[in-house]
Amino acid sequence: MAIGAPGLRHAAALIQPFLPRRLLGTGEGGQQNGQGEHGSHRASPSRDHRSSPSLAGRALREDKVARFSGKVVLITGGARGQGAAEARLLVAEGARVVLGDLLEEQGRALAEELGPAARFLRQDVTQEADWAAAVAMAEAMGGLHGMVNNAGIYVPKRLMETDAALFERHMRVNQLGCFLGMQAVVPAMERSGGGSIVNISSTAGLRGSPGAIAYSGTKWALRGMTKAAALDLAPRGIRVNSVHPGPIETEMVQVWSNAQRVERLARIPMGRIGQAEEVARAVLFLLSDDSSYMTGAELAVDGGATL
Ligand SMILES: NC(=O)c1ccc[n+]([C@@H]2O[C@H](COP(=O)([O-])OP(=O)(O)OC[C@H]3O[C@@H](n4cnc5c(N)ncnc54)[C@H](O)[C@@H]3O)[C@@H](O)[C@H]2O)c1
Repeated sequence: MAIGAPGLRHAAALIQPFLPRRLLGTGEGGQQNGQGEHGSHRASPSRDHRSSPSLAGRALREDKVARFSGKVVLITGGARGQGAAEARLLVAEGARVVLGDLLEEQGRALAEELGPAARFLRQDVTQEADWAAAVAMAEAMGGLHGMVNNAGIYVPKRLMETDAALFERHMRVNQLGCFLGMQAVVPAMERSGGGSIVNISSTAGLRGSPGAIAYSGTKWALRGMTKAAALDLAPRGIRVNSVHPGPIETEMVQVWSNAQRVERLARIPMGRIGQAEEVARAVLFLLSDDSSYMTGAELAVDGGATL
């Protein structure tokens, strides 16, 4: 780098010993090569790669395409909403996906749209036999490297309007389903050399949720189960993290009246409801090696709603 004025040259000489070599345009031996910026680049091709935004950008894009190649991911509740958004992004990044859901028509249509990289099976997450079938399907596709416990139900009722049957229904799908799933995938993930489990909780698992005691209870449970499982499974090479979406524009929130929607919006600093793909991007981060040193963590994707 050329410094024009003599005063500046003097100042540069004084601070030179304290500057990193890459700011000084010096060669590997630490000597100024006198060839200016271009000369110094020629002297250190590896630095060329690090300092060129275009090369760095290209390397990043190449990494992204390869991020899930050869990986198989099982997504419950994968027929629509956030599960479908995750499936689309995963396939675009090279993964093969198994979509489990009760919604056969939508699940099969999505698998067809995604092509040979996707397969659908009718799966009720409360049934152990269905989990065994889902894991077998994944292994037939090449192993099992990731699993998203995404299936869930939300039937919002206040404490005094919630009967035991409704409470139990939430526990079975949202909580027992997640438990059975984590247990079912472990041997297959070990056979695949390790894996990543992402449990979809909610902001309702980070604070109280208005008029939804049963849902809230199960989503808090998922947060704790995630941390307990992370401890149990770390020695087996399996990471477990939870994602906590705020209000997301899917079928699930169609139960809200306009007044409830306005009330939810007022609690979001970013002033809007999230999109399924915005949660899916966070899920892909946790599924991928980009989060290789994260386990037992909780990631809020909520426009700041829990701040
Ligand atoms: N939409 C939101 O505002 C929001 C906010 C926070 C958390 N979440 C959570 O995100 C996850 C995905 O929800 P979504 O927003 O995509 O809603 P969604 O209703 O579109 O998706 C839920 C899916 O789970 C499936 N499912 C329900 N019971 C099942 C069972 N027993 N076995 C298998 N599949 C079953 C449904 O058929 C559906 O496809 C859920 O766990 C939900 O609790 C949603």
